[in-house]
Amino acid sequence: MKKIGLVYSFNTQKTSKVAKRIAESFGDSVKVDMVNVEEVKAEQFLQYENLICGTATWFDGELPNHWDEFIPDIEDMDMKGRTVALFGLGDQKGYPENFLDGMGILAEIFEKQGASLIGFTSTEGYEYESSRAERGGQFCGLGIDYENQGSKNKERVNAWVEKLKLEFK
Ligand SMILES: Cc1cc2nc3c(=O)[nH]c(=O)nc-3n(C[C@H](O)[C@H](O)[C@H](O)COP(=O)(O)O)c2cc1C
Repeated sequence: MKKIGLVYSFNTQKTSKVAKRIAESFGDSVKVDMVNVEEVKAEQFLQYENLICGTATWFDGELPNHWDEFIPDIEDMDMKGRTVALFGLGDQKGYPENFLDGMGILAEIFEKQGASLIGFTSTEGYEYESSRAERGGQFCGLGIDYENQGSKNKERVNAWVEKLKLEFK
């Protein structure tokens, strides 16, 4: 498997914890580079054919500001041939109408640039009203809810990473 760029904001609490857990879960099976979305340049980002990108949702259904500066760069990229797996953090009880929307917003941006998304997961076991990250009964990535289901994080991350090992080339 090709090396993976794991892109998220180093200036986060829970998103950073999940990112580190994902990298640990890959173990020595593949090289995973941790990349700070607040500092990355397009050239560095495009070194990776395999990417994992993570974000929380803030502001009732919006991306956190950490992504603001880099999104315009992504919107100028041709991402055909690149594979992206997404993870998202949200609070299904506090924000049931916008659960994990940030992950859904990233999915829309990457797909528009031609990237292939992998790592979809079942929505079973989550309770919410609507989510921009949902596509026909699946989330477009891994959903993590620290506030309400923190005890499931470890098993959810490990199962997802096993799936990614099969889906990444
Ligand atoms: C002001 C605020 C707004 C939020 N809005 C949403 C939301 O719209 N949808 C959602 O699923 N979670 C929402 N959340 C929950 C966060 O996404 C969740 O707490 C996440 O774990 C934070 O991760 P971080 O520590 O990496 O920022 C919100 C949290 C706060 C504090």
